[in-house]
Amino acid sequence: MLVARDELKELMKKKFMAAGMHENHADDMAEVLAWSSERGLHSHGEVRVEYYTERISKGGMTIDPKVTWTQTGPCSGILDADNGCGYPFAIEGMQKAIDMAKENGIGFVGVANVSHTGAIGYYTEMAAKQGMIGLSCTQSDPMVIPYGGAEPFYGTNPIALAAPTADDRIVSFDMATTVQAWGKILDAKSAGRSIPEGWAVDEDGSPVTDPHKVNALVAIAGPKGYGLMMMVDILSGVLLGVPAGKHVSSMYHDLSEGRRLGHLNVAINPEYFCGADEFRAHMSEVLDELNAVKPGVGFDKVYWPGQRAQMRIQATKDAGGIEIVDDIYDYLVSDDLYRHSWDHKNRFAE
Ligand code: NAI
Repeated sequence: MLVARDELKELMKKKFMAAGMHENHADDMAEVLAWSSERGLHSHGEVRVEYYTERISKGGMTIDPKVTWTQTGPCSGILDADNGCGYPFAIEGMQKAIDMAKENGIGFVGVANVSHTGAIGYYTEMAAKQGMIGLSCTQSDPMVIPYGGAEPFYGTNPIALAAPTADDRIVSFDMATTVQAWGKILDAKSAGRSIPEGWAVDEDGSPVTDPHKVNALVAIAGPKGYGLMMMVDILSGVLLGVPAGKHVSSMYHDLSEGRRLGHLNVAINPEYFCGADEFRAHMSEVLDELNAVKPGVGFDKVYWPGQRAQMRIQATKDAGGIEIVDDIYDYLVSDDLYRHSWDHKNRFAE
C-alpha cells in the first residue's frame, strides 16, 4: 500500500493520541518514525506503532513526565525524562546540545530515564542541519554476547554521526553495533531459511546457521564491535547514572514499567575548530572525492554514508508515497489500539 508521508505521519500520531499521549509528544514520535520510513528504514518506522501504543496504554511510558533539566557545566547537562516517550526528549536533548555548542563550542547532553529513541540518525541530522557535527549513541536491550561469551550482555547499541557540507548534503552515518538486526533472523525463521554464519550464536556461544537455535546476536568485527558496544554503554548508560550492561531493561519484559534507558547527544561547533566555512567546504570536497573513487568489482559506485538514504527519499517522493505492508495500513486506519500483545515476551519478542 502506497501512503503519502503526511498521511502516514498523521495516522501514527492519531494512534499514539488514542493511547493517551499528548499531541506534541505524539507529533514528535510520528515525525521520527515517518523520517525512518521515508528512507526505507521500516524496522524503525511504522512497524513499531502497535508496540508503542500497547506500552503507552499500559503505563510503560509516562504521559505527563516530571522532566528535569540540570545544566552541569557550560557545555554539559542531563535531561531526566522520567520515563517519558523517547523521541521528544531525545529531540529536546539534542537541541540543548546544539544551543550549548553555538555558545561554547560543544554541547554534551545526556537524556536519562527515557524510553526507546528509535533511529538515532534523526538527532544527529538535526545538529548537521544547524551547522554542527552531531553525535549520538543509545542503549538498547541485552541480546548480544560480549566477545567470547555465551550469554547476552549488551544491546545492539547504535552509534550515529552527521555533519554538514557547503552544499545541501548531510553526511549521516548511523549503525547498530551488531552484524545483523534481530528482525533479519525473524525473517529467516518465517521463510524457513538458514542464516549466514557470523550473525548469531546458540546457548553455548557457538556460531549457528539455524535461526531457531539463536540465543544471542554478535557484535560487528569481533572484539572491536564488542568494544564499541561497551563504549556506547559507558557514554549513554554508566555516565548518566542509569542501569547499564546486562541490567538494561528489556523492550518487551513488562510494558507497564518505564524502561530507564540512557541516550547521549553531542553537538560540536566547527567554528571553534577549523572554522565553519572551511569545515563545510572541506566536507564537500571529501564527499566528492569519495564518489570519484573507482568502484570495486560488483559495485556501481562508492557512496558516502547517508547518500543512499537521500536517494531512497527521492524515490519515495517520485513514487508519491511510502510503500507499507497492507496489514499495517489496515491496523493504522482501524479503531484498534493494538491487535497483538508484546507484553511479557522474551528479548526476541517471542
Ligand atoms: P545499516 O546497516 O542499514 O546502515 C549502517 C550505515 O551504513 C548507515 O549509515 C548507512 O548509510 C551506511 N551504509 C550502508 N550501505 C552503504 C553503502 N553501500 N555505502 C555507504 N554507506 C552505506 O544500519 P543498521 O545498523 O541496520 O541500523 C539501522 C537503524 O537502527 C539505525 O537508524 C539505528 O540508529 C537504529 N537502531 C536503533 C536502536 C535503538 O535501540 N534505538 C538499536 C539498534 C539500531
